[in-house]
Amino acid sequence: MATVKSPRKILVTSALPYANGSIHLGHLVEYIQTDIWVRFQKMQGHTVHYVCADDTHGTPIMLRAEKEGVTPEALIEGVHKEHSADFKEFLVEFDHYYSTNAPENKELSQSIYKKLKANGKIATKTIEQFYDPVKNMFLPDRFIKGECPKCHAKDQYGDSCEVCGATYNPTELINAYSAVSGAAPIRKETEHYFFKLSECEDFLKDWTRSGTLQGEAANKMSEWFENGLNDWDISRDAPYFGFEIPDAPGKYFYVWLDAPIGYMASFKKLCRDAGLDFDEYWKKDSSTELYHFIGKDILYFHALFWPATLEFSGYRKPTQIFAHGFLTVNGEKMSKSRGTFITARSYLEHIKNPEYLRYYYAAKLNSSMEDIDLSLDDFVARVNSDLVGKYINIASRTAGFINKRFDGKLKATTKHPVIEALKGAQKLIAEAYEAREYGKALREIMRLADLANADVAEAAPWVKAKQAGDLAAQELHLDCSAALEMFRLLSLYLKPVLPKLVAEVERFLNIAPLNWGAVADSMTDGHQINAYEHLITRVDTKLIEAMTEANKENLTVSPQVAAPVAKPMATTVLPEAEYISIDDFTKVDLRIAKIVNAEHVEGAEKLLKLTLDIGEEKSRQVFAGIKSAYDPTTLVGRLTVMVANLAPRKMKFGMSEGMVLAASDENGGPFILSPDAGASLGMRVK
Ligand code: 2FM
Ligand code: ZN
Repeated sequence: MATVKSPRKILVTSALPYANGSIHLGHLVEYIQTDIWVRFQKMQGHTVHYVCADDTHGTPIMLRAEKEGVTPEALIEGVHKEHSADFKEFLVEFDHYYSTNAPENKELSQSIYKKLKANGKIATKTIEQFYDPVKNMFLPDRFIKGECPKCHAKDQYGDSCEVCGATYNPTELINAYSAVSGAAPIRKETEHYFFKLSECEDFLKDWTRSGTLQGEAANKMSEWFENGLNDWDISRDAPYFGFEIPDAPGKYFYVWLDAPIGYMASFKKLCRDAGLDFDEYWKKDSSTELYHFIGKDILYFHALFWPATLEFSGYRKPTQIFAHGFLTVNGEKMSKSRGTFITARSYLEHIKNPEYLRYYYAAKLNSSMEDIDLSLDDFVARVNSDLVGKYINIASRTAGFINKRFDGKLKATTKHPVIEALKGAQKLIAEAYEAREYGKALREIMRLADLANADVAEAAPWVKAKQAGDLAAQELHLDCSAALEMFRLLSLYLKPVLPKLVAEVERFLNIAPLNWGAVADSMTDGHQINAYEHLITRVDTKLIEAMTEANKENLTVSPQVAAPVAKPMATTVLPEAEYISIDDFTKVDLRIAKIVNAEHVEGAEKLLKLTLDIGEEKSRQVFAGIKSAYDPTTLVGRLTVMVANLAPRKMKFGMSEGMVLAASDENGGPFILSPDAGASLGMRVK
């Protein structure tokens, strides 16, 4: 029998994604990493609950809802649906996926706060904060912008400079302005509630030493201890989308207070729905295990605030915190201009198969906090070579003979060295999964797949199939049966990573769902398999190109001037700045222009040649890609908006000296823009 340890009771979480944006490939590193671990533990026969939720509170979500003209509740409900669908399609199988804006979370957050207060861990302090006098609200650091005090770059956020990397207080910004209204912020006093983290140092030092953290994370903790721990500001003033602090009207819990409590709340709801015992998992002396998978950027919250919050409100602490690194694509941070800022949805639309990505990430993942790189060329090569060329190849080269020649019935295999090697590797592979060394597990599995392929090549069933006589037929039967037994074992080992593909393999092999104990089984003599149907296709490089092309955003002529909505999704990427500064915008010379002539261009499929009067110049020539939507004669005399200072471009049909603005998307267009009545040619658009 394979060694299955006594069943454990395990609660696992992944970080809660913010409800103000889509799930992207950076996020998926973590959800795929966690899901593989959970599936592996379930295959071991342990009791595992995997919970998560949308992180729904805070100023960015409140402002985004306002901008979209919906309530925050409606906004987060829509995002919850979108996130849930993305996770489901990537085969990330939560036992419960909730929202932090839920009654269980409110109740738990308020009761935890009351316990912290009763334990003397809450203090109040009057602090001075930036306030937007137009919007009548206090401004989080990310919503104050201005000139960097160090390098004098303009339009930097209130907490750090994206140009020189300096971190500072928003008070240090030069010529600060509110990113919400543009007004100059004023300083205003307000009373805030603090969690006395400074009093938790001894407890946290002990906790750090208890083996809860990876080496790199423990080192980071030492640095934080050396710098001293500051009390943690856990309140925000109205207006704020979140939970009110008990007995403190107009004061709300800062989103980071109730977010990790969302782990508990999601589990609490699961307990109610599935009849589980919440206290068994969360009581102080619980013998169950609790693991949090997170990105390294939120270690501070999970390794300092969270255990201290739990300790001083009478709950158990995490067994371990598993932090991973960031995702880079083609060696660089994800970028909208390069088309590598790819959402989960866009991947699914183009590449379709989520298991390619699951496999690739698994091949790259280990237990460290190092960043991992998605090299798109390597992705194609690895998936095609490992999954198609090595793994599926074993079945595709042998199953047909069993079906055609032996009515789909297998011959039991007696001792076979490759099958023995496969079975013998179970401990190493299980240990690698357990330790989150997925790359190591997959390297071993592919080494075994190489052995299996070499065995098939040596047996050469395609040669034996052509030979006459019983002996050749018997050998063919045995060789192909052995190959399918090897395939069964490889499938078992790959199941945490490729659950959907392996479910299809189970149907094809006509076997019960594989769990770890099934390493010791074998398909018996006369076992009937089903017809082999093609299980996987190669990834086509063209799909990757189409995906990056579709995600490329031309940021230079975007007419949007949006208020920043939030610190970009923090979990796993370092996205490029999304916004242009007001200075960038004012560089664009937008003018009202009159179309004085419009004509077809011989040989051009899409272009019309326009002559524009912009006041100081009477005949600007612009080639515009609007032929599909306009009869040129109808355009003459009409006013429109153009970019007047675009560098002239030499096109096939002549020089184009500007650009006419037009709207379009998959629903229609192009529609050229017109000013309201009263505007006249030559006016500047600002
Ligand atoms: O950094 C983030 O994306 C947060 N939304 C993660 C929250 S994890 C937990 F603590 F709730
Ligand atoms: Zn700077």
